[in-house]
Amino acid sequence: MNGGTGADRLAGQVAVVTGAGSGLGAAMARVFAGAGMAVASLDIDGAAAEATAALVAGDFGMPSTAVRTDVGNSASVNAAARHVAEALGGCDLLAANVGVQQFGAIDRLTEQDWQWVLNVNVMGTVRTVREFLPLLRGGSGWRHIVLTASSGALIPGVRLGAYQASKFAVMGFGETLRQELAGEGIGVSVLFPAGMSTRHLESSALARPPELGSSVTLPDDIESMLASRPIGRSDIVAPEVAVRYLLDDLLANELYVLTHGSYRADYHQRRDAIEAAFDRMERRSAPA
Ligand SMILES: NC(=O)c1ccc[n+]([C@@H]2O[C@H](COP(=O)([O-])OP(=O)(O)OC[C@H]3O[C@@H](n4cnc5c(N)ncnc54)[C@H](O)[C@@H]3O)[C@@H](O)[C@H]2O)c1
Repeated sequence: MNGGTGADRLAGQVAVVTGAGSGLGAAMARVFAGAGMAVASLDIDGAAAEATAALVAGDFGMPSTAVRTDVGNSASVNAAARHVAEALGGCDLLAANVGVQQFGAIDRLTEQDWQWVLNVNVMGTVRTVREFLPLLRGGSGWRHIVLTASSGALIPGVRLGAYQASKFAVMGFGETLRQELAGEGIGVSVLFPAGMSTRHLESSALARPPELGSSVTLPDDIESMLASRPIGRSDIVAPEVAVRYLLDDLLANELYVLTHGSYRADYHQRRDAIEAAFDRMERRSAPA
Protein backbone atom coordinates (compact mmCIF):
# COMPACT_ATOMS: atom_id res chain seq x y z
CA MET A 1 0.00 0.00 0.00
CA ASN A 2 0.98 3.63 -0.39
CA GLY A 3 0.96 3.90 3.42
CA GLY A 4 2.95 6.17 5.74
CA THR A 5 2.96 9.91 5.95
CA GLY A 6 5.68 11.65 3.99
CA ALA A 7 9.41 11.52 3.68
CA ASP A 8 9.80 9.06 6.57
CA ARG A 9 8.56 6.47 4.10
CA LEU A 10 11.69 6.90 2.01
CA ALA A 11 14.59 6.27 4.39
CA GLY A 12 16.34 3.04 3.48
CA GLN A 13 14.43 2.60 0.23
CA VAL A 14 15.95 2.28 -3.24
CA ALA A 15 15.46 4.68 -6.14
CA VAL A 16 16.45 3.89 -9.73
CA VAL A 17 16.89 6.78 -12.14
CA THR A 18 17.49 6.46 -15.89
CA GLY A 19 19.29 9.31 -17.62
CA ALA A 20 20.86 10.02 -14.22
CA GLY A 21 24.15 11.20 -15.67
CA SER A 22 22.94 14.71 -16.47
CA GLY A 23 20.27 17.36 -16.09
CA LEU A 24 16.91 16.34 -14.70
CA GLY A 25 17.95 12.75 -13.90
CA ALA A 26 21.01 13.89 -11.94
CA ALA A 27 18.86 16.42 -10.06
CA MET A 28 16.34 13.67 -9.23
CA ALA A 29 19.13 11.42 -7.96
CA ARG A 30 20.25 14.21 -5.60
CA VAL A 31 16.69 14.79 -4.33
CA PHE A 32 16.15 11.08 -3.70
CA ALA A 33 19.53 10.65 -1.95
CA GLY A 34 18.79 13.77 0.12
CA ALA A 35 15.59 12.06 1.30
CA GLY A 36 17.58 9.09 2.56
CA MET A 37 17.22 6.71 -0.37
CA ALA A 38 19.88 4.51 -1.93
CA VAL A 39 20.17 5.44 -5.60
CA ALA A 40 21.03 3.50 -8.75
CA SER A 41 22.18 5.84 -11.52
CA LEU A 42 21.65 4.49 -15.03
CA ASP A 43 22.82 6.24 -18.19
CA ILE A 44 24.13 5.40 -21.65
CA ASP A 45 27.08 7.62 -20.73
CA GLY A 46 28.77 5.35 -18.18
CA ALA A 47 31.18 8.00 -16.89
CA ALA A 48 28.31 10.43 -16.28
CA ALA A 49 26.38 7.72 -14.40
CA GLU A 50 29.49 7.06 -12.29
CA ALA A 51 29.81 10.77 -11.51
CA THR A 52 26.23 10.97 -10.21
CA ALA A 53 26.72 7.76 -8.21
CA ALA A 54 29.90 9.19 -6.64
CA LEU A 55 27.95 12.29 -5.62
CA VAL A 56 25.15 10.23 -4.06
CA ALA A 57 27.74 8.32 -2.01
CA GLY A 58 30.07 11.25 -1.27
CA ASP A 59 27.74 14.21 -0.64
CA PHE A 60 24.81 12.29 0.82
CA GLY A 61 26.48 9.19 2.26
CA MET A 62 23.86 6.93 0.68
CA PRO A 63 24.37 3.48 -0.87
CA SER A 64 24.90 4.00 -4.55
CA THR A 65 25.60 2.19 -7.79
CA ALA A 66 26.05 3.15 -11.43
CA VAL A 67 25.21 1.09 -14.51
CA ARG A 68 25.94 1.97 -18.10
CA THR A 69 22.52 1.31 -19.63
CA ASP A 70 21.03 1.91 -23.06
CA VAL A 71 17.25 2.09 -22.68
CA GLY A 72 17.07 1.64 -26.44
CA ASN A 73 18.12 -1.98 -25.93
CA SER A 74 16.10 -4.58 -23.99
CA ALA A 75 19.10 -6.72 -23.00
CA SER A 76 20.88 -3.69 -21.58
CA VAL A 77 17.88 -2.70 -19.40
CA ASN A 78 17.42 -6.30 -18.28
CA ALA A 79 21.10 -6.49 -17.25
CA ALA A 80 20.75 -3.19 -15.37
CA ALA A 81 17.78 -4.51 -13.39
CA ARG A 82 19.75 -7.61 -12.40
CA HIS A 83 22.71 -5.45 -11.36
CA VAL A 84 20.51 -3.17 -9.23
CA ALA A 85 18.84 -6.15 -7.53
CA GLU A 86 22.25 -7.50 -6.57
CA ALA A 87 23.86 -4.20 -5.61
CA LEU A 88 20.99 -2.50 -3.74
CA GLY A 89 18.49 -5.30 -3.11
CA GLY A 90 15.46 -4.00 -5.01
CA CYS A 91 13.68 -0.95 -6.40
CA ASP A 92 11.00 1.09 -4.61
CA LEU A 93 10.99 4.25 -6.71
CA LEU A 94 11.57 4.05 -10.46
CA ALA A 95 12.19 7.22 -12.47
CA ALA A 96 12.03 6.33 -16.18
CA ASN A 97 13.45 9.63 -17.25
CA VAL A 98 15.38 9.17 -20.51
CA GLY A 99 14.15 11.06 -23.53
CA VAL A 100 16.03 12.22 -26.61
CA GLN A 101 15.24 15.25 -28.73
CA GLN A 102 15.19 15.53 -32.50
CA PHE A 103 13.86 18.81 -33.82
CA GLY A 104 12.66 19.04 -37.40
CA ALA A 105 9.75 20.07 -39.60
CA ILE A 106 7.44 17.15 -40.37
CA ASP A 107 8.71 16.88 -43.96
CA ARG A 108 12.36 16.93 -42.83
CA LEU A 109 12.19 14.37 -40.03
CA THR A 110 13.55 11.14 -41.49
CA GLU A 111 12.37 7.59 -40.95
CA GLN A 112 15.53 7.11 -38.86
CA ASP A 113 14.71 10.19 -36.73
CA TRP A 114 11.30 8.74 -35.90
CA GLN A 115 12.71 5.29 -35.28
CA TRP A 116 15.29 6.62 -32.81
CA VAL A 117 12.98 8.98 -30.91
CA LEU A 118 10.18 6.42 -30.59
CA ASN A 119 12.53 3.57 -29.67
CA VAL A 120 14.25 5.53 -26.89
CA ASN A 121 11.43 7.73 -25.59
CA VAL A 122 8.51 5.32 -25.88
CA MET A 123 9.94 1.81 -25.96
CA GLY A 124 12.77 2.84 -23.60
CA THR A 125 10.16 3.86 -21.04
CA VAL A 126 8.18 0.67 -21.61
CA ARG A 127 11.32 -1.50 -21.28
CA THR A 128 12.43 0.29 -18.13
CA VAL A 129 9.07 -0.30 -16.46
CA ARG A 130 8.84 -3.89 -17.69
CA GLU A 131 12.31 -4.87 -16.44
CA PHE A 132 12.06 -3.12 -13.05
CA LEU A 133 8.43 -3.95 -12.26
CA PRO A 134 9.31 -7.34 -10.73
CA LEU A 135 11.61 -5.53 -8.28
CA LEU A 136 8.88 -3.03 -7.37
CA ARG A 137 6.43 -5.88 -6.93
CA GLY A 138 8.91 -7.63 -4.65
CA GLY A 139 8.95 -4.67 -2.24
CA SER A 140 6.47 -3.99 0.52
CA GLY A 141 6.70 -0.33 1.57
CA TRP A 142 5.95 2.84 -0.41
CA ARG A 143 6.45 2.11 -4.12
CA HIS A 144 6.16 4.48 -7.01
CA ILE A 145 6.95 4.96 -10.70
CA VAL A 146 7.47 8.36 -12.30
CA LEU A 147 7.68 8.71 -16.08
CA THR A 148 9.22 11.80 -17.65
CA ALA A 149 6.95 13.17 -20.39
CA SER A 150 7.15 16.84 -21.41
CA SER A 151 5.12 20.03 -21.45
CA GLY A 152 4.99 19.17 -25.19
CA ALA A 153 2.30 16.65 -24.30
CA LEU A 154 0.13 19.47 -22.87
CA ILE A 155 0.79 22.31 -25.32
CA PRO A 156 1.78 21.96 -28.98
CA GLY A 157 4.79 23.43 -30.72
CA VAL A 158 6.24 23.34 -34.22
CA ARG A 159 9.33 21.33 -35.28
CA LEU A 160 8.60 18.91 -32.43
CA GLY A 161 6.55 16.29 -34.29
CA ALA A 162 8.49 13.14 -33.36
CA TYR A 163 9.31 14.28 -29.83
CA GLN A 164 5.76 15.45 -29.14
CA ALA A 165 4.25 12.19 -30.43
CA SER A 166 6.66 10.24 -28.21
CA LYS A 167 5.77 12.25 -25.10
CA PHE A 168 2.03 11.83 -25.76
CA ALA A 169 2.74 8.09 -25.81
CA VAL A 170 4.59 8.30 -22.50
CA MET A 171 1.62 10.15 -20.98
CA GLY A 172 -0.85 7.57 -22.28
CA PHE A 173 1.29 4.68 -21.12
CA GLY A 174 1.56 6.27 -17.65
CA GLU A 175 -2.20 6.78 -17.37
CA THR A 176 -2.87 3.13 -18.22
CA LEU A 177 -0.06 1.88 -16.00
CA ARG A 178 -1.49 3.83 -13.07
CA GLN A 179 -4.85 2.11 -13.47
CA GLU A 180 -3.27 -1.31 -13.88
CA LEU A 181 -1.01 -1.01 -10.80
CA ALA A 182 -3.46 0.76 -8.47
CA GLY A 183 -4.65 -2.52 -6.97
CA GLU A 184 -1.07 -3.45 -6.09
CA GLY A 185 -0.37 -0.23 -4.20
CA ILE A 186 2.24 0.97 -6.69
CA GLY A 187 1.62 4.62 -7.54
CA VAL A 188 2.34 6.16 -10.95
CA SER A 189 3.00 9.80 -11.81
CA VAL A 190 3.72 11.49 -15.13
CA LEU A 191 6.14 14.42 -15.01
CA PHE A 192 5.82 17.25 -17.55
CA PRO A 193 9.04 19.25 -17.52
CA ALA A 194 9.10 22.58 -19.36
CA GLY A 195 12.23 24.61 -20.19
CA MET A 196 15.32 23.50 -18.25
CA SER A 197 18.98 24.39 -18.73
CA THR A 198 20.37 20.93 -19.46
CA ARG A 199 22.59 19.24 -22.06
CA HIS A 200 19.54 17.75 -23.74
CA LEU A 201 20.38 18.47 -27.39
CA GLU A 202 24.06 17.66 -26.99
CA SER A 203 23.58 14.43 -25.02
CA SER A 204 20.80 13.34 -27.39
CA ALA A 205 23.06 13.74 -30.43
CA LEU A 206 25.85 11.83 -28.66
CA ALA A 207 23.52 8.96 -27.75
CA ARG A 208 22.10 8.48 -31.26
CA PRO A 209 23.19 5.12 -32.72
CA PRO A 210 25.68 5.85 -35.56
CA GLU A 211 23.84 3.51 -37.94
CA LEU A 212 20.86 5.90 -37.87
CA GLY A 213 22.99 8.77 -39.21
CA SER A 214 23.78 11.95 -37.35
CA SER A 215 21.24 14.18 -35.64
CA VAL A 216 20.63 17.39 -37.64
CA THR A 217 19.11 20.45 -35.95
CA LEU A 218 18.86 23.75 -37.83
CA PRO A 219 19.06 27.04 -35.89
CA ASP A 220 15.67 27.90 -37.40
CA ASP A 221 14.15 24.77 -35.81
CA ILE A 222 14.86 26.08 -32.33
CA GLU A 223 13.79 29.67 -33.08
CA SER A 224 10.55 28.50 -34.71
CA MET A 225 9.80 26.13 -31.84
CA LEU A 226 10.38 28.86 -29.24
CA ALA A 227 8.19 31.31 -31.16
CA SER A 228 5.33 28.79 -31.34
CA ARG A 229 5.12 28.05 -27.62
CA PRO A 230 4.53 30.17 -24.51
CA ILE A 231 7.68 28.89 -22.79
CA GLY A 232 10.52 31.18 -23.83
CA ARG A 233 14.18 31.56 -22.91
CA SER A 234 13.30 33.58 -19.80
CA ASP A 235 11.29 30.64 -18.41
CA ILE A 236 14.23 28.24 -18.51
CA VAL A 237 15.20 27.03 -15.04
CA ALA A 238 17.96 24.86 -13.60
CA PRO A 239 16.93 21.21 -13.21
CA GLU A 240 17.38 21.57 -9.41
CA VAL A 241 14.64 24.21 -9.48
CA ALA A 242 12.43 22.04 -11.70
CA VAL A 243 12.47 19.19 -9.15
CA ARG A 244 12.00 21.22 -5.98
CA TYR A 245 8.43 19.98 -5.37
CA LEU A 246 8.79 16.61 -7.09
CA LEU A 247 8.94 14.42 -3.99
CA ASP A 248 5.89 16.11 -2.46
CA ASP A 249 3.86 15.23 -5.54
CA LEU A 250 5.20 11.68 -5.77
CA LEU A 251 4.49 11.01 -2.10
CA ALA A 252 0.96 12.33 -2.61
CA ASN A 253 0.64 9.96 -5.62
CA GLU A 254 -0.37 12.83 -7.91
CA LEU A 255 -0.94 11.65 -11.47
CA TYR A 256 0.24 14.83 -13.21
CA VAL A 257 3.34 16.68 -12.01
CA LEU A 258 4.52 20.00 -13.45
CA THR A 259 7.81 21.87 -13.24
CA HIS A 260 6.38 25.23 -14.44
CA GLY A 261 2.96 26.72 -13.71
CA SER A 262 3.13 29.52 -16.25
CA TYR A 263 1.47 28.07 -19.38
CA ARG A 264 -2.00 27.25 -18.06
CA ALA A 265 -3.76 29.59 -20.53
CA ASP A 266 -2.19 27.79 -23.48
CA TYR A 267 -3.11 24.40 -22.08
CA HIS A 268 -6.69 25.73 -21.76
CA GLN A 269 -6.82 26.37 -25.51
CA ARG A 270 -6.53 22.63 -26.05
CA ARG A 271 -8.91 21.75 -23.21
CA ASP A 272 -11.45 24.29 -24.52
CA ALA A 273 -11.25 22.94 -28.07
CA ILE A 274 -11.99 19.42 -26.76
CA GLU A 275 -14.86 20.80 -24.63
CA ALA A 276 -16.23 22.53 -27.74
CA ALA A 277 -16.18 19.20 -29.61
CA PHE A 278 -18.28 17.65 -26.81
CA ASP A 279 -20.64 20.67 -26.93
CA ARG A 280 -21.15 20.20 -30.67
CA MET A 281 -21.97 16.52 -30.20
CA GLU A 282 -24.38 17.27 -27.36
CA ARG A 283 -26.19 19.82 -29.53
CA ARG A 284 -26.32 17.35 -32.43
CA SER A 285 -27.71 14.53 -30.31
CA ALA A 286 -30.27 16.71 -28.47
CA PRO A 287 -33.89 16.08 -29.52
CA ALA A 288 -35.01 18.61 -32.16
N1 LIG B 1 15.54 20.11 -20.96
C1 LIG B 1 14.27 20.43 -21.11
O1 LIG B 1 13.92 21.61 -21.26
C2 LIG B 1 13.20 19.35 -21.11
C3 LIG B 1 11.87 19.75 -21.31
C4 LIG B 1 10.87 18.78 -21.29
C5 LIG B 1 11.19 17.45 -21.08
N2 LIG B 1 12.51 17.08 -20.89
C6 LIG B 1 12.77 15.66 -20.67
O2 LIG B 1 13.55 15.49 -19.48
C7 LIG B 1 14.28 14.26 -19.56
C8 LIG B 1 15.73 14.49 -19.17
O3 LIG B 1 16.32 15.37 -20.12
P1 LIG B 1 17.39 16.47 -19.67
O4 LIG B 1 16.88 17.78 -20.14
O5 LIG B 1 17.77 16.28 -18.25
O6 LIG B 1 18.60 16.10 -20.65
P2 LIG B 1 20.12 15.69 -20.33
O7 LIG B 1 20.77 15.58 -21.66
O8 LIG B 1 20.74 16.64 -19.37
O9 LIG B 1 19.99 14.24 -19.69
C9 LIG B 1 19.56 13.14 -20.44
C10 LIG B 1 20.44 11.94 -20.11
O10 LIG B 1 19.90 10.80 -20.81
C11 LIG B 1 20.99 10.04 -21.30
N3 LIG B 1 20.56 9.20 -22.44
C12 LIG B 1 20.30 9.56 -23.72
N4 LIG B 1 19.95 8.48 -24.44
C13 LIG B 1 20.00 7.42 -23.60
C14 LIG B 1 19.73 6.04 -23.76
N5 LIG B 1 19.40 5.52 -24.96
N6 LIG B 1 19.84 5.22 -22.68
C15 LIG B 1 20.19 5.72 -21.47
N7 LIG B 1 20.47 7.04 -21.27
C16 LIG B 1 20.36 7.87 -22.32
C17 LIG B 1 22.04 11.07 -21.70
O11 LIG B 1 23.34 10.48 -21.76
C18 LIG B 1 21.88 12.10 -20.59
O12 LIG B 1 22.79 11.88 -19.53
C19 LIG B 1 14.06 13.74 -21.00
O13 LIG B 1 13.05 12.77 -21.01
C20 LIG B 1 13.58 14.98 -21.74
O14 LIG B 1 12.81 14.65 -22.88
C21 LIG B 1 13.50 18.00 -20.90
